[in-house]
Amino acid sequence: MIPYRKHVLICTNRRDPQNPKGSCANSGSEEICEAFKKQLIAHGLKGQMRANSSGCLDQCEHGPTVVVYPEGVWYSVKTPADAQEIVEKHLVGDQPVDHLRIK
Ligand code: FES
Repeated sequence: MIPYRKHVLICTNRRDPQNPKGSCANSGSEEICEAFKKQLIAHGLKGQMRANSSGCLDQCEHGPTVVVYPEGVWYSVKTPADAQEIVEKHLVGDQPVDHLRIK
């Protein structure tokens, strides 16, 4: 049995600020991760869906990078409001948020 209907991975990898690759943590991804977790609780989805921090997802230039499974939809999530929109439209409504997707 699959334990979660949807799983959100949020890259919280941190590199030295001087590293030319950049990193999601230096772009605010820890705040984004917390926003996803709070939104899942606020929508009564705890136990049905899960948000986890992850290591580098190899899309560093788009960070903070987020991927939602099982669909495998990739997002660039810049603000907690973006996270809220993804929870409401994609996780609850099953409609990916096109304007936040990594193209
Ligand atoms: S540091 Fe986040 S995708 Fe690489």
